[in-house]
Amino acid sequence: MKTLYEVMDGSSKDEEKLKKAGEILKAGGLVAFPTETVYGLGGDALNPESSRKIYAAKGRPSDNPLIVHICRLSDLEKIAWDPDGKGLKVARAFWPGPLTMILKKKDTVPLETTGGLPTVAVRFPSHPVARGLIDAAGGFIAAPSANTSGKPSPTSAQYVAEDMDGRIDMILDGGDVGIGLESTIVDLTEDEPMILRPGYVTQEMLTEVLGSVSVDRTILDAASTQRPKAPGMKYRHYAPKGDLAIVEGEPEKVVERINVLCRKAEQEGKKTGVIATDETASLYHADSVKSVGSRQDEEAIAHSLYRILREFDDEGMEVMYSEAFSLRGMGQAIMNRLLKAAGHHVIEV
Ligand code: TXA
Ligand code: MG
Repeated sequence: MKTLYEVMDGSSKDEEKLKKAGEILKAGGLVAFPTETVYGLGGDALNPESSRKIYAAKGRPSDNPLIVHICRLSDLEKIAWDPDGKGLKVARAFWPGPLTMILKKKDTVPLETTGGLPTVAVRFPSHPVARGLIDAAGGFIAAPSANTSGKPSPTSAQYVAEDMDGRIDMILDGGDVGIGLESTIVDLTEDEPMILRPGYVTQEMLTEVLGSVSVDRTILDAASTQRPKAPGMKYRHYAPKGDLAIVEGEPEKVVERINVLCRKAEQEGKKTGVIATDETASLYHADSVKSVGSRQDEEAIAHSLYRILREFDDEGMEVMYSEAFSLRGMGQAIMNRLLKAAGHHVIEV
């Protein structure tokens, strides 16, 4: 299949490109598009055949449900039940934006889209290209992140092309994404809302709106034997090709230990990479040292983490070490993704 590639540059031609992409989606095809979190791989959410195609293009197990993206608040009630109004409350506070809610689904949503579940994940993104595309497609786009299964979610159209060229109909290039980590997922189907995946919208922010909100314990806890409630969280996503470990402790000790570990790996003939911060990058000795940004700036760290993991893959890094980051703000989301990438391998110093 030839994949069309269109750059969305804010010119008057964008409208035409969105229309063409909308036609492709309505006809059951697949279009990758930017959102404010990561790039999505879109298909018509109400067409079971489109959802099957999404799973095939990603190489993703079909028990892992898709998020339905909408572009009008009034469309929420067409696909989901919101008996106690919690959904509307959350929507008013955080939509359009990086927040996905789980509600009981209506019959309009095929089981192919929800991986067989009686619930549906719904998100109203804020990115103008995403909103324009959803509208052009008729209002409901099912979209997982546009990576092949097991790779970090793409934060630029170039990474989408690396994974999806020849497998989908079209890629809309809207430049680099803003946030860089996937949306927060909150489950509103139980009495107490629960965060199934941490993201830009934090537990504190949700608690302000909903009263009490818990967090799925499996998110940061390697020892937990519970199954995560979001089916996708059980897979070892975001995994680099080489071995990645997180080193946690006093900053000086972390630098010292990582340098020792890198020297050892290099003696074994292995290529080494370090995920560092602006404050520490100059202190490391490894084949490649990359800074995620300042330690104080969680948003910058979130923004560069997936790009760096992909770059290390491209450079053929075999052994990688990362500093650990604070759990403040987006820190929970950052550490959740990093722990998964490292297969929960943490070295305490
Ligand atoms: O930021 C995002 O959310 C991006 C952009 C493209 O919108 N999308 C995204 O989709 O990250 P995906 O498919 O990579 O991750 C969706 C997650 C999976 O872990 C999936 O298991 C979970 O949401 N999920 C979807 N529907 C669910 C449901 N009904 N119940 C529980 N978890 C659900
Ligand atoms: Mg994903």
